[in-house]
Amino acid sequence: MFEKLPKILFGGDYNPDQWDENVWEEDIKLMKILRANTVTLPVFSWAKLQPSEDIFNFSWLDRLAGLLCKNDIFIIMATPTAAQPAWMSKKYPEMLVTDVEGHKHKHGGRSNFCPNNLDYRRLSRLIAEKMAMRYKDLPNLIMWHVNNEYRSYCYCENCAEAFRIWLKKCYGSLEELNKCWYTNFWGHTYYSWEEIEPPSYLTELLPGRLGERDSAIFQGMAIDYNRFMSDSILDCYLNEADVIRKYTPNIPITTNFMGSYKPLDYFRWAKYIDIISWDNYPTNDIHVSNTAIRHDLMRGLKNGQPFLLMEQATNQVNWQPYSALKRPGVMRLLSYQAIAHGGDSILFFQWRQSRGACEKYHSAMVPHASHENTRVGRELAKLGQELEKLGDKIVGSGTNSKVAIMFDWSNWWAVEYSCGPSIDLKYINQVEKYYKALYDLNIPVDIINPSGDLSKYDIVIAPVLYMVKENVAESIEKFVYGGGTFITTFFSGLVDENDLVILGGYPGAFRKVLGLWVEEIDALYPDMSNKIVMKEKFSELKGKYDCKLICDIAHTEGAKTLAIFDKDYYTGYPSLTENSYGKGKAIYVATDPEDDFIRDLMKQYCNEKALRSFIEPQKGVEVTQRVKVDKTFTFILNHNSEKVTLTLPEGKYNSLLNGDVVSGKITILPKEVCILENSKSYKL
Ligand code: GLA
Ligand code: ZN
Repeated sequence: MFEKLPKILFGGDYNPDQWDENVWEEDIKLMKILRANTVTLPVFSWAKLQPSEDIFNFSWLDRLAGLLCKNDIFIIMATPTAAQPAWMSKKYPEMLVTDVEGHKHKHGGRSNFCPNNLDYRRLSRLIAEKMAMRYKDLPNLIMWHVNNEYRSYCYCENCAEAFRIWLKKCYGSLEELNKCWYTNFWGHTYYSWEEIEPPSYLTELLPGRLGERDSAIFQGMAIDYNRFMSDSILDCYLNEADVIRKYTPNIPITTNFMGSYKPLDYFRWAKYIDIISWDNYPTNDIHVSNTAIRHDLMRGLKNGQPFLLMEQATNQVNWQPYSALKRPGVMRLLSYQAIAHGGDSILFFQWRQSRGACEKYHSAMVPHASHENTRVGRELAKLGQELEKLGDKIVGSGTNSKVAIMFDWSNWWAVEYSCGPSIDLKYINQVEKYYKALYDLNIPVDIINPSGDLSKYDIVIAPVLYMVKENVAESIEKFVYGGGTFITTFFSGLVDENDLVILGGYPGAFRKVLGLWVEEIDALYPDMSNKIVMKEKFSELKGKYDCKLICDIAHTEGAKTLAIFDKDYYTGYPSLTENSYGKGKAIYVATDPEDDFIRDLMKQYCNEKALRSFIEPQKGVEVTQRVKVDKTFTFILNHNSEKVTLTLPEGKYNSLLNGDVVSGKITILPKEVCILENSKSYKL
């Protein structure tokens, strides 16, 4: 497997089967103009490649692949298995998905296959194998892309049977399963494996109403079904990847993820994926830190290994409620944001805008106007030229974060299947809040799995880490004991990995390290709030802050009370505590604070660890760094609509996009970006 990509990949999904062959030459001409060097194909061509079970037709793809190679365009070869041909669904109707409401689907859409269906497994492996055999020596083949945006949860009889087998392997006995799922509740004890049904709207799931999330009667069971489905879908990936690897052991294999996609545990998947890739479709109205955190999550999946941006839109995204245009400069700026966070490619969905069907108003690199001389075309051409100039300079470089935020899919499922304490408690929002505070301070963050290695960090934050898996509490204790700062919040440490409450007092698993006991948990109605009133004097935390959602009523057991609540019967009870443990400290935020508080809290503890921003933070200016052994690349992105002036730390820097050598004060225009190279590494 190659160590790193030869350059930043630039291009996109190419769906030439939507067009007559006579467009291909024109496509190549336009690729050259835009400096596109990579295409992903043929993502949705199963029906064209295999018109019936016994007939395969690769001749058109052979011709196209030949043309692309002749023109030095890299090929990311996709297996077309995300959408099976109509004849296949007709011949093997069991292949179609049964949804959570119990509806058996008919042919249509995509990702409409049961992940445990053996005919699907056989036929998808077969087409993958045929492609691997045929294209293994293609000179420009740089990567395999299996399927597309895996997603199909299924609740059919076949999946129910596979679930039972999965459970047998997992629990060994029904007795153990009954215990872990707490089935004595409502007399749901199982006496034979056959009695177990997948948790769906027909059984143990409680459908969310009016935008609320679903909850479950038996969370252990519902979480297990997610784990099982995530594993079943992963098996579909492996089923194809394994056969491809036989033919091309040195070509990396990926599948495109969807960032924070709740149904699939990407941390569990990551070790089977050679290079993480993902599709980024932010709406115009979200804060840019919400995109940044998803890039960092994707980078975190393989411990900091650079990822690929497999898809983004050049302009409007038609499946969003409002197909807002990307304002001038924003497509280029968001592209650099991906690179700034560890991306080694800028790829788009899609190359040429469709004439028909549901994506015809989705933007593409070549719009309906059919030429490059458009606002977006000019922006693409500029980006293409710049990336070509950057060559392989940045490719493969890492990051150097001293702060980590824990993120865990099972915990996400557990928090949100829970009936109580509040329907407004959304795990991802809590994680995003802490991330944003650090983002605003220009402090780089790694997003890590709770079971990950903590030793390289100074600060580890675990917002709402409700479910604590085996060894995690011990690893956190060790981290703090050795001098680390651990920060966690309300609704953390409460349950084990079966979602059974750790008895003896909240916050169960974290009680020792935090040095406190939570006696009660209060959920506030949306119009209610309380206050965090600082008791101790700190340089960064001052006075009073608002808080809402949840208030814990806690008693310290060794921890110091830094702040208290000032309303209700728990006036005077701690809202913020700090416990010294070994050489480090563990901080508990007993409520959901306003953003200013989280920002000041982060400042306080970053200061203590001497973690400072490379450049003084300014609103709307994003600063990140990527590092190589002897070089540091600093990215400064101005998301504002006004220009900004910043002061660089002493030294001379090569400004890579314009070739200048800069020092002292620099001005960055609205929506502009600056990449500075220097040979010193700074501690961030
Ligand atoms: C997803 C898919 C693409 C396309 C885009 C449109 O990311 O992978 O095939 O449908 O959405 O945004
Ligand atoms: Zn199924």
